[in-house]
Amino acid sequence: MKFNILIIDDEKNIREGLSESLELEGYNTFLAENGKEGLERIAKGDIDLVITDLRMPEISGEEVLAQVTTESPGLPVIVLTGHGSIDNAVEAMRNGAYDFLTKPLNLDRLTLIVKRALQRRELILEQRELQAELKSKKTFENIIGTSNEMQKVFQMIKKVAPSKSSVLVTGESGVGKELVVNAIHDLSPRSKNRLISVNCSALSKDLLESELFGHEKGSFTGAQGMRRGRFELAHESTLFLDEIGEIDQNIQVKILRVLQEKQFERVGGERTIDVDVRVIAATNRDLEKEIEKGNFREDLYYRLNVVHIHIPPLRERKDDIPLLVSAFLQEFAKENGKKIDGIDVNARAALYKFDWPGNIRQLRNSIESAVVMCDGNVITLDDLPPSIRNTHEVDTIKVPAGITIQEAEKIIIMQNLAIQKGNKSKTANILGIGRKTLHRKLEEYKEKN
Ligand SMILES: Nc1ncnc2c1ncn2[C@@H]1O[C@H](COP(=O)(O)OP(=O)(O)OP(=O)(O)O)[C@@H](O)[C@H]1O
Ligand SMILES: [Mg+2]
Repeated sequence: MKFNILIIDDEKNIREGLSESLELEGYNTFLAENGKEGLERIAKGDIDLVITDLRMPEISGEEVLAQVTTESPGLPVIVLTGHGSIDNAVEAMRNGAYDFLTKPLNLDRLTLIVKRALQRRELILEQRELQAELKSKKTFENIIGTSNEMQKVFQMIKKVAPSKSSVLVTGESGVGKELVVNAIHDLSPRSKNRLISVNCSALSKDLLESELFGHEKGSFTGAQGMRRGRFELAHESTLFLDEIGEIDQNIQVKILRVLQEKQFERVGGERTIDVDVRVIAATNRDLEKEIEKGNFREDLYYRLNVVHIHIPPLRERKDDIPLLVSAFLQEFAKENGKKIDGIDVNARAALYKFDWPGNIRQLRNSIESAVVMCDGNVITLDDLPPSIRNTHEVDTIKVPAGITIQEAEKIIIMQNLAIQKGNKSKTANILGIGRKTLHRKLEEYKEKN
């Protein structure tokens, strides 16, 4: 992409000098003699950067700056000030200028500032595009994802929501199982009633039983009154059994009976209660393996698994990362009262490269912490949690099996040296050996060849 730079200055020499050097750097330049002309050019909407003198007849550089910050936010303005008028420059920076240059102009500094300003500009535009995408695609029931994998999940949710079928939602921890369960309920005719959830791993066996089925007065020590269970509360609604893989065998039998016969008794009670409940279960375990091991009943598995929605881990759908990051960035910037324009190239590369064992929950937490750590307007590598930052550009060295320690040592030394581009002190440091030792070894390798 070729950037368009507008130069506004009433001095012909400066205008043309600047234009010439920026054109040499590969930019398109446009020239204006005064603020009025400049603003007219900006109004056309294709300018990426404005360089403006401050003191000019009719409309001053200050006015141009004021107009740009209100009418075209995100368009960077670099101001030029005469020698000795640094106060004006400071004032301009306070009013939103990206940077300033004093005359006579230092062209190296100019090129550097222009480059940085345009990088920032690109980030802002990219971030805006992502935000627009987030809005226009109206993320599915708060679930963000444009990857093919997630589109399949959305299709499944839409198809299964209107029915009464049991659904089993599987996937690693943090992939969004709970979000998917909520979406199914919200899109179903049962959404007029509240979704009832039970986390099956959080309670002991006895407590879970009474939590699910309720109990009669005096059914066990401490059971002072009658209590309705979650199956009863979920009548004409949806019951979400989270972490179903953790359930004790006896309770598995009882749940199976409700699914088959739509009836149960409260703990310590005899009266049979009829319910109309739709069950959705979730687990991060492989239930088929649990069946093989004898931990999970096969008949219950088939009752729950009428429809199966599997959510793939984030590492298998990395296309979703930019949009997720953008959404979390917006959320946490707002929460922390910060203005964050985007993520720089290195930080982005690290986020993409990371494997995300904790999936979207981990990505969300990482962005929250990066926003808190960030001092400027752009998230950099330093703002990311160390575990994520460190995977950035980790080079690996492969050592074949069946060789001696000496041979392996040679491979490790030579490859580290290559990675460090031949810098011996750095290589010695990294390997934890002295420079002299490294030299000696390198001499030995030479002699052997
Ligand atoms: N596609 C997504 N879009 C936006 N946020 C998501 C998405 N997937 C997950 N999240 C967020 O990530 C976090 C973890 O999601 P959730 O609790 O649904 O995961 P889970 O699969 O139930 O994990 P666990 O097995 O540990 O219970 C939540 O804060 C959730 O809002
Ligand atoms: Mg969960």
